Amino acid sequence: MKAFIINTTHEYPVKISVPFPVLKENEVYLKLTASSLNHRDLWITKGLYPGIRIGAIMGSDGCGMIDDKAYIINPGLDWGELQSHQSSAFRVLGVPDDGTFGQFIAINKKYLFPKPEHLSHAEAASLPLAGVTAFRALIKKACVCPGDKVLITGIGGGVALFAMQFALAMGCYVVVSSSNDLKIAEAINLGANAGYLYTNPDWAKNLIADIGGVDIIIDGACGDGFEKLIKVCNPGGRIVFYGATAGKIENINPQSIFWRQISIMGTTMGSQEDFSEMVDFVNNHKISPMIYKTLDFEEIAKGFEIMESGSQFGKIVFSYTD
Ligand SMILES: NC(=O)c1ccc[n+]([C@@H]2O[C@H](COP(=O)([O-])OP(=O)(O)OC[C@H]3O[C@@H](n4cnc5c(N)ncnc54)[C@H](OP(=O)(O)O)[C@@H]3O)[C@@H](O)[C@H]2O)c1
Repeated sequence: MKAFIINTTHEYPVKISVPFPVLKENEVYLKLTASSLNHRDLWITKGLYPGIRIGAIMGSDGCGMIDDKAYIINPGLDWGELQSHQSSAFRVLGVPDDGTFGQFIAINKKYLFPKPEHLSHAEAASLPLAGVTAFRALIKKACVCPGDKVLITGIGGGVALFAMQFALAMGCYVVVSSSNDLKIAEAINLGANAGYLYTNPDWAKNLIADIGGVDIIIDGACGDGFEKLIKVCNPGGRIVFYGATAGKIENINPQSIFWRQISIMGTTMGSQEDFSEMVDFVNNHKISPMIYKTLDFEEIAKGFEIMESGSQFGKIVFSYTD
């Protein structure tokens, strides 16, 4: 079968013919119909991710068919028993384990969940990794409540957009940040209440002048900009971060955190329970993922180029044909 593998780092995945996967205990074959790109895939091609196995089929997100039934895959493998954190055996599907950028995958049936009926295959394929990360960050870690003021940073990102959609569904007042005016306008069009350019040095001052501050912040960037997140966080507020696209945080004044009783929490993907609850939430609220671009399976390298340029607003999806 055809699959895109990591051949070497510092190169986009390459398409080769690979042997049909062999089933292990409790595994079934899923014929993939769509997959989507996560920033993780880009980090892997840059050699900036632990546990890279050269030759592995890439891709964490997927939707596919078994007979006439459609499923999505929970890409969080072997989370373990505890809800507080993952076990040492935890892995993300798609390097080192063979992932979804192939025509078929052999996958333990416990990771398969029925495709939400209101979603197309492309939409469903964009949900798993980013959706569960956003759900755990916002609902499980930040414990968001209706009416909370929530800031979602870097709204062009896949996780950020799900966090925004989930917060809006919860009845929150949602503020977004971006490097791009058009992305802010698009987010407001989708229901966000306000938006700020994080590239404007005065954005935090402006937010405080406009709405006082926010109760909850969901961030995937960290870096030097994190200091401003603490400034705009209300006393008693919660900041949850799931990524570090902008690097280390080196400029924090601890007093600004402890005196104002701010909680800062890290989060990573989610448990089987989180995933199942996320799918229920998406079904109940009829949430449709934001797709920026749907490309053909053959065009996987183009998807990486788009993500590397940072121009996307939402998910980059690959649609598979026979
Ligand atoms: N821990 C986990 O489980 C987990 C899960 C998923 C992702 N992640 C990590 O989270 C990050 C985002 O992942 P993704 O897949 O959502 O990526 P993505 O779709 O490529 O989105 C990246 C977004 O980051 C935003 N950004 C870049 N620099 C920023 C800055 N200085 N301040 C605020 N936002 C900034 C940009 O937003 P604008 O274009 O709007 O400026 C960009 O659209 C990555 O680092 C990824 O590895 C972690």
